[in-house]
Amino acid sequence: MTETLGFCQEMRPESCGFILFGATGDLAARKILPALFGLCEKKLAPKNFYIVLAGRTPLDRGALESRLWDAVTKAGFSPSPEVFSAFLERLEYIQADYESDAFYALLGGRLAELDAKFGVKKKHLFYLATPPGAFEPITGKLKATGLLFDPKDCACWSRVIIEKPYGFSLESAAALDAGLKQAAPESQAYRIDHFTGKETVQNVMALRSANAVFDGTWNNKFVDHVQITVLEELGLEGRAGFFEHLGLARDMMSHILQLAAITAMDLPATFRDTDFKAEKQRFFESVRPLSREEVSKQAVRGQYAGYRAEPGVAPGSAAETFFAFRFQVDNDRWRGVPFYVRAGKKAGLKKASIDVVYKKPDHGIFTHIDIGYPNVFSFSIQPEEKVSFSLVGKHPGPKLCFTPRSMGLDYRAEGQEAAAFPTDYQRLLIDAMSGDQTLFLSSFEIKFMWEFLSPLLAAWQAAPAANPLRSYADGTPGPAEAAELIKKDGRAWV
Ligand SMILES: NC(=O)c1ccc[n+]([C@@H]2O[C@H](COP(=O)([O-])OP(=O)(O)OC[C@H]3O[C@@H](n4cnc5c(N)ncnc54)[C@H](OP(=O)(O)O)[C@@H]3O)[C@@H](O)[C@H]2O)c1
Repeated sequence: MTETLGFCQEMRPESCGFILFGATGDLAARKILPALFGLCEKKLAPKNFYIVLAGRTPLDRGALESRLWDAVTKAGFSPSPEVFSAFLERLEYIQADYESDAFYALLGGRLAELDAKFGVKKKHLFYLATPPGAFEPITGKLKATGLLFDPKDCACWSRVIIEKPYGFSLESAAALDAGLKQAAPESQAYRIDHFTGKETVQNVMALRSANAVFDGTWNNKFVDHVQITVLEELGLEGRAGFFEHLGLARDMMSHILQLAAITAMDLPATFRDTDFKAEKQRFFESVRPLSREEVSKQAVRGQYAGYRAEPGVAPGSAAETFFAFRFQVDNDRWRGVPFYVRAGKKAGLKKASIDVVYKKPDHGIFTHIDIGYPNVFSFSIQPEEKVSFSLVGKHPGPKLCFTPRSMGLDYRAEGQEAAAFPTDYQRLLIDAMSGDQTLFLSSFEIKFMWEFLSPLLAAWQAAPAANPLRSYADGTPGPAEAAELIKKDGRAWV
């Protein structure tokens, strides 16, 4: 439910039960359990709320509590005994056997009891933090046993959240999606991309819609180009088993396309999820995917020099740890404005940002003097969450000297309020409990992501001579060819 308070719109999560499958895993420990704890601690969770954790591993209460303590404290919380106990009171563990009807009967019975105990009206949010191979069997059984149900006939609901990777290819993603749709129609399916839950990313839309000065210039008349950067300082961090199979492009493309869409889509008529998603879809329909033949000229892939020495990596591994590409958007707003993307591991810095680079002035003395790109609108997503706008002004003093300046909004520096922010996962959980799908991915978006990515992957695999895997030194932001990709257009990475 949504409440409008003057200029402020607040999401109100509904009383519900939260059921986490795969609760003994890495995602659960690092992201979901801390997010749930944070929601309870900040009193952002609904008042009537309980959590059921499920996994195949047998866990007694002591082992469960010590895992939860580890997860919460490793995430940076230092809860008082009272606050931690209050969290534990809302929570229990059920050992799962995903194949067996008896498990779903047991779960259903327990949910009914917990609904009664916590004052919840059969409203259940199922989170699948299991490997993707388990999605279809679990959702199929949930549907067959009536735990995932069509909410049309009651004031209750059941929703399911899933995590990337959404398949490994266009075909496997379609099969995964078809399986999901058999159990949960689009209105009940919440596909997470946690980048959309980040505060700065949401502020792109807020700043554009509230300040006509920005959106009025958000087009090919004023904007020279757009850059999207997701660089990580870290390398593999022991996750060879996961990464070797996937590579960076499969891992990151969803995030990148979401950032591009939120930056460049037309403003929706309202912020209702249906309007927002329809407008986002229109944007994706105007993105021009690269053809396989274009990939060698418009994209670069790389691997950091130390990658093959990482534990668990095959000696001749061709998994890319870096990629960069350029694409175009074929609509009236953006025609002719290139979008440059780069993403990489072991890049020497942690930086996720969207940079909207405005054209240079084309009049007066500036036709003779190059002052670079004076105006860049930067949305920094990581490590800081801030928005800045660079401009050139006069340096104080008797001479006319031009100096670069920057204006900014730094959320985390804005005192007390910042500490109360929901994190990305917290925000997305609140939205799912509120029934707001704005920040979640549609079936169309998953399909588009694969249609966009497939020619890149196909060209890299089928034509390695034309698309070599470039090496780059550990701790540097990608191979020289990535700098060349943008330099040949007379530009540089911000
Ligand atoms: N880890 C991350 O940072 C991250 C980030 C983005 C997306 N994801 C995605 O989120 C999901 C969970 O990730 P994860 O890293 O937590 O995975 P994980 O540690 O490999 O698996 C999570 C849990 O799922 C259970 N499980 C394993 N194999 C299973 C199977 N065949 N059927 C049913 N349950 C099984 C295991 O618990 P039990 O044996 O106790 O049942 C395991 O602890 C995956 O789809 C992953 O791709 C993860």
